[in-house]
Amino acid sequence: MAASPSMTIMIAAVRKAARGVQRDFGELSNLQVSVKGPGDYVTAADKRCEKVLRTELEKARPGYGFLMEESGAVKGSDPDHRFIIDPIDGTTNFMHSLPLFAISVALERKNEIVAAVTYNPISDELFTAEKGAGAFLNNKRLRVANRTDIHEALVGCGIPHRGSEGQAEHRAELALLQAKTIGLRRLGSATLDLAFVAAGRLDAFWERNLHPWDLAAGVLLVREAGGFTSDCDTDANPLQTGNIIAANADLLPLIKKELAAAKKVIGA
Ligand code: IPD
Repeated sequence: MAASPSMTIMIAAVRKAARGVQRDFGELSNLQVSVKGPGDYVTAADKRCEKVLRTELEKARPGYGFLMEESGAVKGSDPDHRFIIDPIDGTTNFMHSLPLFAISVALERKNEIVAAVTYNPISDELFTAEKGAGAFLNNKRLRVANRTDIHEALVGCGIPHRGSEGQAEHRAELALLQAKTIGLRRLGSATLDLAFVAAGRLDAFWERNLHPWDLAAGVLLVREAGGFTSDCDTDANPLQTGNIIAANADLLPLIKKELAAAKKVIGA
């Protein structure tokens, strides 16, 4: 199916922003050894990328609103549409010259994500999805993995930042899922984790306390690849709670069951 005009615009904006990110990533190795470290430089790269995305998308869709990781929410004259942007998802990886990060743009229409682009500018992997039209990696159709046995599942996760809430709960979840699955992976970019579930590279993924810009594109990628997403504990929308499980229909309830068991372990 041909890409919609909105998708064409989003891909063009992401590819344009990616050129700057590639350049900035190339420069990083010089900064790794400096005393000050690459922190400020990376923040500037994030902001530069977001600015290019906003400028390009605004030019093509002047009335649409924005929700951006760096600049927050901007209302548009069109109340039904907004772009949700994470300029570099996987900033810590980027900062350490680890090429596992992505530019992520989603289009929301009347509170529903209808188009998604997640692009790793280093591997040149472009994940796209449109509601009802499937998910693709560089134009190749994606399907989630069909493994149904949790003992064979390779499962991605997040790890809470030092000092943030939910540490004990996370450790209990890790222990239970480590014992049940074939392996756990912490890749450091939620949008790529979700794209990898869509591509069947990971069988499932869970993480808590994420933001809408970490999740918006990936949720549609997973669904359009035949997978499912859920809040970790309830039936609420993960885009609202920030807590997500993504997997096929068989594995998702099995992961959810382990997360519930972890709560019991810590008495929560
Ligand atoms: C981060 C990544 C990471 C997740 C963090 C997010 P950022 O996004 O998605 O995988 O564990 O919670 O904040 O900050 O690199 O855009």
